Amino acid sequence: MRKTVLILGAGSDMARALSAELAEGGYNLFLAGRNVHELSKDAKDLEIRFEIQAEALYFDALDTNSHPGFYDHLNPEPFGVVAAFGVLGDENLARRDPLEWQQIINTNYSGCVSILSLAANRMEKAGEGFIVGISSVAGDRGRAANYVYGSAKAGLSAFLSGLRNRLCRSGVRVITVKPGFVRTKMTRDLDLPSRLSATPEEAARDIFNAILSNRDVVYTRWMWRWIMAFIKHIPERIFKRMSI
Ligand SMILES: NC(=O)c1ccc[n+]([C@@H]2O[C@H](COP(=O)([O-])OP(=O)(O)OC[C@H]3O[C@@H](n4cnc5c(N)ncnc54)[C@H](OP(=O)(O)O)[C@@H]3O)[C@@H](O)[C@H]2O)c1
Repeated sequence: MRKTVLILGAGSDMARALSAELAEGGYNLFLAGRNVHELSKDAKDLEIRFEIQAEALYFDALDTNSHPGFYDHLNPEPFGVVAAFGVLGDENLARRDPLEWQQIINTNYSGCVSILSLAANRMEKAGEGFIVGISSVAGDRGRAANYVYGSAKAGLSAFLSGLRNRLCRSGVRVITVKPGFVRTKMTRDLDLPSRLSATPEEAARDIFNAILSNRDVVYTRWMWRWIMAFIKHIPERIFKRMSI
């Protein structure tokens, strides 16, 4: 019998590319997000192209009260869960508007903690499955340009690390994805360096390969692992004066 993967924030460009990889790999899919109309079209398309079953579901990461009911209604229970939702937000606005920093923190961090905790408890009981959390290299070190977003992703990376530590003996795998730059809706207004920027399809392939193999933490593109290793080791007294 085919296994089912729940993709949260399934309308994200990276998630849409990953959905195609998972469908081609033979998984049935729950495509969850706020734009159910668009997700239903994606679900139909994947069903036809890959002869799998796909269903669109409404999910709002910010509405954490709805998460237990949302997860309870999933039938069948997912074998894998991918948290792909996120907002970059407006860092300058977040300096003066609490609503902006709350949206950034609550979407990228609290929303993930809420839904992935539910998934983790169910998978721990089942004794199998995988959880993928899409964090960011922005969480590896705080920078002036995006430290509210970066701090939410740092929290998410630490959460996923702890979850992996908790679940590793129960047969449930937890994968942390740390994209550098990816050309998606989120970054469409940014001038990205081409050698360091992945397409959503490239990032999706890296994520799918990490699911198939035994990877815990995956950087995409791969060179970001080394770039961030270097950046993390710059002494704070130098780093604080840099604008990178
Ligand atoms: N692109 C990059 O360079 C980059 C780099 C590092 C990390 N990431 C991370 O990678 C993940 C995927 O991002 P992407 O680049 O593919 O971005 P994207 O295309 O802009 O997609 C973001 C998705 O998040 C969804 N979302 C936002 N708030 C939500 C909420 N409250 N509830 C449910 N869904 C919500 C959006 O849904 P709506 O359509 O409903 O708004 C959208 O589908 C994100 O976690 C992002 O932080 C991206």
